[in-house]
Amino acid sequence: MAGMNASSATRQPLDHPAPDARIGRAIEELDTPTLLLDRAASDRNLALMASYFRDRPSKLRPHFKNHKCVTLAKRQMQAGAVGMTCAKLGEAEVLVDHGFQDVLIANQVVGSAKIERLVQLAKRARIAVAVDHFDQVAAISRAATAGNTTVRLLIEVDIGMGRCGIPTSDAVLDLARKIVGMPGVEFGGLQAYEGHLVNVIDREQRRSQSRAAMGLAVETRRLLERSGIPVPCISGCSSATYDSTGILDGVDEIQAGTYATMDRQYFRLAPEFEIALSILVRVISRPGPDKAVLDVGVKGAGAEFGVPGIRDYPDVVIPFFLAEEHVVVNQAPDWLIGQPLHLIPSHACTTCNLYREMVVHENGVVTDVWPIEGSGRLA
Ligand SMILES: Cc1ncc(COP(=O)(O)O)c(C=O)c1O
Repeated sequence: MAGMNASSATRQPLDHPAPDARIGRAIEELDTPTLLLDRAASDRNLALMASYFRDRPSKLRPHFKNHKCVTLAKRQMQAGAVGMTCAKLGEAEVLVDHGFQDVLIANQVVGSAKIERLVQLAKRARIAVAVDHFDQVAAISRAATAGNTTVRLLIEVDIGMGRCGIPTSDAVLDLARKIVGMPGVEFGGLQAYEGHLVNVIDREQRRSQSRAAMGLAVETRRLLERSGIPVPCISGCSSATYDSTGILDGVDEIQAGTYATMDRQYFRLAPEFEIALSILVRVISRPGPDKAVLDVGVKGAGAEFGVPGIRDYPDVVIPFFLAEEHVVVNQAPDWLIGQPLHLIPSHACTTCNLYREMVVHENGVVTDVWPIEGSGRLA
């Protein structure tokens, strides 16, 4: 072809980027540390949770903060979710940028810069946000009115967690009365998260305690309804309580997150879901006969819920000390220098937030690379 030399003939057109060279390779050949997702295991988790709610009145609004990956969120929507939950405005922006139309920020959005972003977002999608103080409501109302849009407000009820939220029904009623009729805002219902109980290991105790806690939100709902304020929704619950609080009469939306990827801590709580997330690491040093050092530390593995585990080596215990870039194992088997291992993080959500992509595999072979678009979106 005239004017085309050998190098331009092999160049990829910009709208068809070259496929990732890792696709088709065995995961053990990948560079480390790499965040891995077992697609079949994650798919089974998504299907199990979706099928649980398919014929129930309450519906899934999965929490994006677990994986922050748009591809996974789209798969959750395809499995039947009614929308997504976010912890941060920046996460919601990522979702709306990728076409999501119904997003709840289950957190307080405060300060003029953020409220302006919130209003801009509400012009592009159906956005709801948690509130627990009249000052937030007034600021959002003013900005939304000026922006000619409407923001849905869910009043957060503190049902025992002691984080954000209003602890008494009367105060919730008072704030709801003020919201109803204010311009630029719409009363969307109640936000209630039983986060202080999701880690109760005994499932029966978790069930009864979390149902009692969520019952406080339902009582508040009934008070508002008796007072003539319709409550469109109670949104809350988690991957560890979906089958207890999630089926309570009066609860509408389940904000479960971790079930999509799972982690070491959640596997103790809800073993019906599979651990799909791991970090491929390598042995980089054998300083003594029993000692091995792996090439990831707290900068690559969220450790708030304890140390990571090592897949296929359940008896090897990592001591609590995790350095920035190293894990030291004191009773190491006969691992070789360079040997790949799969670390199972104790906390998937903070782990995913540390990576820009997850490498997806099936039966140990890379099939895809999914960006983690919401990674690092802290504001
Ligand atoms: C507001 C809120 N809703 C729901 C969840 C539940 O998510 P998960 O299923 O990952 O525990 C959380 C977890 O932190 C949360 O903060």
